[in-house]
Amino acid sequence: MTRTVYVNGEYLPETEAKVSIFDRGFLMADAVYEVTSVLDGKLIDFDGHAVRLKRSLDELDMAEPCTKDELLEIHRKLVDLNEIEEGLIYLQVTRGSDGDRDFVFPSSDTKPTIVLFTQNKPGLADSPAAAKGAKIISIEDIRWGRRDIKTVQLLYPSMGKMMAKKAGADDAWMIEDGYVTEGTSNNAYFVKNGKIVTRPLSNDILHGITRKAVLRMAQEAQMEVEERLFTIDEAKEADEAFTTSASAFVMPVVEIDGVQLGDGTPGPIAKRLREIYLDESRKAAI
Ligand code: PDD
Repeated sequence: MTRTVYVNGEYLPETEAKVSIFDRGFLMADAVYEVTSVLDGKLIDFDGHAVRLKRSLDELDMAEPCTKDELLEIHRKLVDLNEIEEGLIYLQVTRGSDGDRDFVFPSSDTKPTIVLFTQNKPGLADSPAAAKGAKIISIEDIRWGRRDIKTVQLLYPSMGKMMAKKAGADDAWMIEDGYVTEGTSNNAYFVKNGKIVTRPLSNDILHGITRKAVLRMAQEAQMEVEERLFTIDEAKEADEAFTTSASAFVMPVVEIDGVQLGDGTPGPIAKRLREIYLDESRKAAI
């Protein structure tokens, strides 16, 4: 089945969708994005993603390409057309182009570019990777200082993922000034004596939509949560660890820099939070 994608108001076969070579997303990484998961053919936390998209656009003085209702309609139509039961929807908005390369932003009436496509991922919720848990390495965080804005500047996170693969691991956590910031494409947590520890929100990390939901659910389940800076050594001495993201939900971490956590299998709190998150998210999906 040829995938149908959305580009600037049109639903097209992926082979026919086009964006200008002068688009600032392509030339300058002048673009923001969102990834929303789909379970049972429904959108998980669409509202959270739409609100964060608006915030990213505002922070960069970028125009909104359409209303939230239109965005919801596009998401739903792509899910339908591509028959997605479980998977992801990728959305990107760029500052567009006025037909040349220039560091100066184009005039404010330049139309933003909006692209959405689906990724079909059967078994996303019932994932063998989550049952096994992830091995991570730590790397230096050399990204720019506005990681709270979800820009498409993903070269360093991609390199981090490659460093992890090369080291025989699955992913990397990044460290700045001695403290863990986040994973290459997820937020980072460890658990010690029943308490969940994660870095507080600031410009240093992405304000994960899954993070917000999982912390709320943890508190509702009477789990103790502490938002503070933490080092990789603390995480290595933890009872368990995990990450959260729209693409992997709650992912247990079983090894950090070659040090096994607990018995080397996913910890009880990570497993429980994954169950709660999937269960509640399915119920609230739209
Ligand atoms: N990444 N931190 C970073 C750097 C991320 O790229 C992401 C998401 C997260 C988790 O945010 P959320 O819970 O809203 O997905 C944290 C997406 C999934 C991606 O780039 O594919």
